[in-house]
Amino acid sequence: MAVMDKTILITGSTDGVGRYVAQRLAAKGWRVIVHGRDRTRGQAVAAQITKQGGEACFLAADLASLAEVRSLADAALRDSDGLDVLVNNAGIGTSGQRRELSTDGFELRFAVNYLAGFLLTRLLLPMLETRKSARIVNVSSAGQQPIDFSDVMLTRGYSGVRAYCQSKLAQILFTFDLATELSGRKVTVNCLHPATYMDTTMVRLSGVKPISTVEQGGAAILQLVESPTLAGRTGLYFSGMQEARADPQAYNERARRRLRTLSFDLVGVADPLAA
Ligand SMILES: NC(=O)c1ccc[n+]([C@@H]2O[C@H](COP(=O)([O-])OP(=O)(O)OC[C@H]3O[C@@H](n4cnc5c(N)ncnc54)[C@H](OP(=O)(O)O)[C@@H]3O)[C@@H](O)[C@H]2O)c1
Repeated sequence: MAVMDKTILITGSTDGVGRYVAQRLAAKGWRVIVHGRDRTRGQAVAAQITKQGGEACFLAADLASLAEVRSLADAALRDSDGLDVLVNNAGIGTSGQRRELSTDGFELRFAVNYLAGFLLTRLLLPMLETRKSARIVNVSSAGQQPIDFSDVMLTRGYSGVRAYCQSKLAQILFTFDLATELSGRKVTVNCLHPATYMDTTMVRLSGVKPISTVEQGGAAILQLVESPTLAGRTGLYFSGMQEARADPQAYNERARRRLRTLSFDLVGVADPLAA
C-alpha cells in the first residue's frame, strides 16, 4: 500500500541507478512505474517491490521508437491516476564505434537518450500539471559535447563517446528551455550528472573501471526527486549533490531555440509556443 500517495515514472529502471532509485522510493511508500525494454527484468523489479510491501507496475517500451514512446505515455495515462515525478533516466552509453540508427532513422543515442525523453515529457506534461506541484528530473552526464546543428545526426566523424556526450548536453538544453517555458507554473524541471563511472551495465560495457557506486548517483537523483529544499526551484544542473555549471552551449538561448524547433519537428508535435 503506497503511503506517500505519490506516483513516479522512472525510465530505465530495470537496471543500474534507475532500478536503485525505484527500489528506494518504493520502500518509502511511493507508487513506482518501472520502465525498460526487458520484460523479464522489469517484471522482476516490480515483483520484488510488491513482495516487500511496496506498489509498482512495469511498462515496457523501446525508446528507440517514437511510436513506443507514445504507447508508454498512453499506458502511463491509462494505468495510473496521476503522476508527481517523471525521471528521464534511460540511456545507452558510449560503447561501440559503429553509428546506429533508431527505428525512426535518427542517430540512436540522440534518439534514445534525448529525443524519447523530450517526447515523453511533452506527452505527460498535462498529467503532471494536474498535481499541486510536480517535478521532472533529466538524468544527464558530465560528459557533454556541443551540438553541431549542421550535423545533429552525426553522419561525419561519428564516435560512441561523441554521440553519447551530444545527447547528454541536449538533455540539459531541453531542461533549461522547458524550465523557462514552465516558469511560474506547477512543474519544475532540473537535470544532473549523477556520479562518475558508477558500477552499472553501461560503464562495464564501455570497458571503464567503475569509480562510484550506484548509491552515490542514486542519492543525487533522489535529491532532485524529493528534497524539500528544491521545492519550486527549476532550471538547475547538478553535479552529484552540488549545483554546477554545464557546458556553455546550455546557456546559449539561440542554441536552445534551435534544438527546441528541431525536436518538435522530429517528433511531429506542434510547439505550444509557436504562434
Ligand atoms: N553509470 C554512470 O556512471 C553514469 C554517469 C553519468 C550519467 N549516467 C546516466 O545515468 C542513466 C542511467 O545509467 P546506468 O548507468 O544506470 O545505465 P544501465 O545500468 O546501463 O541502465 C540503463 C537503463 O536504460 C534502459 N534502456 C537502455 N536503452 C533503452 C531503450 N532503447 N529503451 C528503453 N530503455 C532503455 C535499460 O533498460 P533495458 O536494458 O531493460 O531495456 C536500463 O534500465 C543514463 O541516462 C546515463 O547516461 C550514468
